[in-house]
Amino acid sequence: MIDPRREAVIERISRIPHVIPVLSSKGGVGKSLTSTGIAVIFSQMGRKVGLLDLDFWGASDHIILGVPVDEFPEEDKGILPVPKCGLKFMSVAFYTRNQPLPMRGSEYTDALLELMAVTRWDDVEYLVIDMPPGLGDPFLNLTSFFRKGHYVVVTTPSPLSVMALKNTIHMLKEQKIHIVGVVENMSSQNSLRGFLDEQGIRHLGNIPIINDIDAYIGDCKKFSSSEFIEHLRRPAEKIAELIG
Ligand SMILES: Nc1ncnc2c1ncn2[C@@H]1O[C@H](COP(=O)(O)OP(=O)(O)O)[C@@H](O)[C@H]1O
Ligand SMILES: [Mg+2]
Repeated sequence: MIDPRREAVIERISRIPHVIPVLSSKGGVGKSLTSTGIAVIFSQMGRKVGLLDLDFWGASDHIILGVPVDEFPEEDKGILPVPKCGLKFMSVAFYTRNQPLPMRGSEYTDALLELMAVTRWDDVEYLVIDMPPGLGDPFLNLTSFFRKGHYVVVTTPSPLSVMALKNTIHMLKEQKIHIVGVVENMSSQNSLRGFLDEQGIRHLGNIPIINDIDAYIGDCKKFSSSEFIEHLRRPAEKIAELIG
């Protein structure tokens, strides 16, 4: 049976000109900082941007931007994303309220459909999505909604992440999904360029380890002018050039 919410979600998403799902090779590589950062930089570039955190068990973009999640966003023929830092923000954290939420696969899909069916993005041109980590059910479910997305993958140069990066690239290629490129985080050089060239994937740039990064978290103004954002600027501009 066709789930009518599924149709509603696909309809809503198809109205957004550019969807940019951000994936990670594995957890803890900087996916949340990178997705939040890309959204912030796009907004600094004068683009109309939305940021959607779909990482149910590790939502953290609200912490980076300093958005309290104890009050649910306003409703008006749908749920209005919260304006912050020049972007429109929506997160699963408004549902989970920073509490751990035991959820099985079907409940997870239900919650996701609900959230995506009711959120009004209106004039947003670029929707950056902090995707759940891993390549299991949540990933497969979401890629079925965001088939036309321009995927960005975040990794570190550690052999442990590179192994997972290979799998991620393989899965995306298999589904004929557009990979814009890879951001190499916590790395002082583009050490994955050779590997990515072999895969036919663009290296978008590297971001070094930044020692006082926690000092920029929780205040979107500070984060917007942080060293992390300065290093991410060139990769984000490349993404903008590549997707138009
Ligand atoms: N370039 C960096 N320099 C220093 N610390 C970083 C950097 N990138 C990420 N981190 C830290 O690594 C941890 C994981 O980052 P996060 O963005 O939450 O990753 P993920 O979403 O992939 O789990 C956080 O504590 C974050 O502050
Ligand atoms: Mg995260």
